[in-house]
Amino acid sequence: MHDPQLVAERLLRASAASAGVDARIDWDASFEEGAWFMPPEWVSLYGTPLWQSMDHTSRVELSRQEMAALASGGIWTELCLMQMLGRYMAGRDLIDARTRYALTEVGEETRHSLMFARLISAMRCRAYTPPGYVNHLFSLTNVVYGRIGTFAVTLLSEEVNDLVQREAMKDERVQPLVRQVCRVHVTEEARHVSFARTELTHAMRTASAANVRVQRELVGVTAFVFMAHRMPATVYRAVGLDPAAARQQALANPHYREILRRSGHKAVTFLTEIGLISPRQRHWWRRAGLAP
Ligand SMILES: [Fe+2]
Ligand SMILES: [Fe+2]
Repeated sequence: MHDPQLVAERLLRASAASAGVDARIDWDASFEEGAWFMPPEWVSLYGTPLWQSMDHTSRVELSRQEMAALASGGIWTELCLMQMLGRYMAGRDLIDARTRYALTEVGEETRHSLMFARLISAMRCRAYTPPGYVNHLFSLTNVVYGRIGTFAVTLLSEEVNDLVQREAMKDERVQPLVRQVCRVHVTEEARHVSFARTELTHAMRTASAANVRVQRELVGVTAFVFMAHRMPATVYRAVGLDPAAARQQALANPHYREILRRSGHKAVTFLTEIGLISPRQRHWWRRAGLAP
């Protein structure tokens, strides 16, 4: 296992070396006529009967709304992570490398949230917020997460959204502004993933069996709730589709289910390897759409 202090020191150097990358985004670049806002294969309705009935303009418009929903989800989860990281730091040595890296990560998440907010505005979309009960549920439960839950939930939200951003940043059919934002985010998140994996492995080795049992369930339920709200039905209303019918087709869409499973593969494999997903919690991950 990697020494958490050494990993944090390496990540601090890498963060310092790449500081300011988001300042190089060209926010004044105009959108290209007819270009996608995410690879079409990642749009939830791709390949469904509804998709077949839509013209190119409506499909592109749906990709714009779905990108706004993903960016909104990005802001919301980053706000949640910041709260959990705040508690992690407050209980530690206040000046060691791990605390300083966690502070650096909070600083990067703040910039990401600002960057996503700016992207949503530039796309002339509104923010998609999760339903009130999810917000309420998080404020009630987030104190229970502890170090295992904090870094497992961090890892989950970071790894699940990594693949779509990696594919978007390389895809020449996608709007250049979206590709730039994805590139900045993917680069910085790779460091956060490394930090979360190291902290989580360390926390699992030192946790009591009772704590691990609680955290397994908590993280499984969180994955389920997180994924249930990944794509709000209101994106479909924004493009003139019946939200209930469109959501039903998206959830039943074998293509969409497959890309969600692919998105979850790395996190599910890692969490299983370190013992945070045992056969008893597997059902949460299946219901979340992240595991076969
Ligand atoms: Fe981020
Ligand atoms: Fe992050």
